[in-house]
Amino acid sequence: MAIAQSTEEENCSDDAPPQVDETLNGECKELLLTLPRARGWRTPHIFLFQGFWCQPKEIQAIISFQRHYVPRDSDAILSTLPKAGTTWLKALTFAVVNRGRYAHHYHDHEHQHPLLVSNPHDLVPFFEYKAYAGSDGAPDLSGLPDPRLFGTHMPYHVLEAPTAGRCKIVYICRNPFDMFVSQWMYLNKVKPEWLPEVPLDEAFEMFRSGAVGFGPFWSHVLGYWKASRERPDRVLFMKYEEMKEDIVSHLKRLASFLGYPFTAEEEEGGVVEGLAELCSFEKMKELEVNKSGRSIMDFENKNLFRKAEVGDWVNYLSPAMEQQLSKVLEEKLGGSGLEFKISPGLPVGQ
Ligand code: A3P
Repeated sequence: MAIAQSTEEENCSDDAPPQVDETLNGECKELLLTLPRARGWRTPHIFLFQGFWCQPKEIQAIISFQRHYVPRDSDAILSTLPKAGTTWLKALTFAVVNRGRYAHHYHDHEHQHPLLVSNPHDLVPFFEYKAYAGSDGAPDLSGLPDPRLFGTHMPYHVLEAPTAGRCKIVYICRNPFDMFVSQWMYLNKVKPEWLPEVPLDEAFEMFRSGAVGFGPFWSHVLGYWKASRERPDRVLFMKYEEMKEDIVSHLKRLASFLGYPFTAEEEEGGVVEGLAELCSFEKMKELEVNKSGRSIMDFENKNLFRKAEVGDWVNYLSPAMEQQLSKVLEEKLGGSGLEFKISPGLPVGQ
């Protein structure tokens, strides 16, 4: 499934020879030689693989996932583009499905709730950065307790065959203006020191052309959007901005979708509000584990919690950039029924 246009590949390609990552397996090294490549933000190059752009280690892990993953009906896969709200979604889902087990552990200092002492990325592993990240391939995930929760940035079409119609899939999408700024800020913090920082205007061009990690973003969101409309029992599509406005109803939606609906007694007892608070940006940002710990790829957790605002992009993008990105949205998503709220003061789609 080729999604990126050839002009986009040409615009973004970089003639420097790819540096070989010696930790990759031989199959992946050979494959990389055959794939279109573009300049990366956090690695020297990203590659066009199965219709989307990603880093070499991600490709190796995705191949392993596609070969070895054995789905269970009770599995829940939490899918997002980077910086769309992954950490939040992992926390919310973990809190919802495990609420029976940890009901009394919010304020109990001896038996603290796992979300108070661990980063959500350590409680809900990514397929591509943890579960399938080893170079030898097939991890044994059969011992993990039900329901198994996994995170991923893979597009829907990549998950389709390995999940074989089983599992629940939850997707959060975020308006691309804020998501782009959040990606740019984050990647500049976690990139290796020897790799030069990509200036904002260049990064914006890369984002707009589609050649950024797990991009093009429009293909990613459309894949899940369409799947959620065709199989609403299997794919839940949520928007970051709507969750920020009303997390309680979205938590209820999430819980019912996953097969863990809140009882009337729980609702009356304030359980939903309690979980929302536990997973709130303000609460999570101040936890010691999130101020000083490390999780995904050993990156510092503190970089996962920045501002969490809707519309912060106006502080970074020029009016011309806004127009250009709006045009892309119109071209790529127009007619799909999918619209974004890009500013707290404006209605959706404006
Ligand atoms: P900003 O950079 O705009 O602040 P991801 O988890 O996918 O890496 O996304 C990170 C973005 O989500 C960051 O956005 C971060 O501040 C925000 N975020 C992190 N935890 C959050 C939470 N509990 N609630 C809402 N937003 C959160």
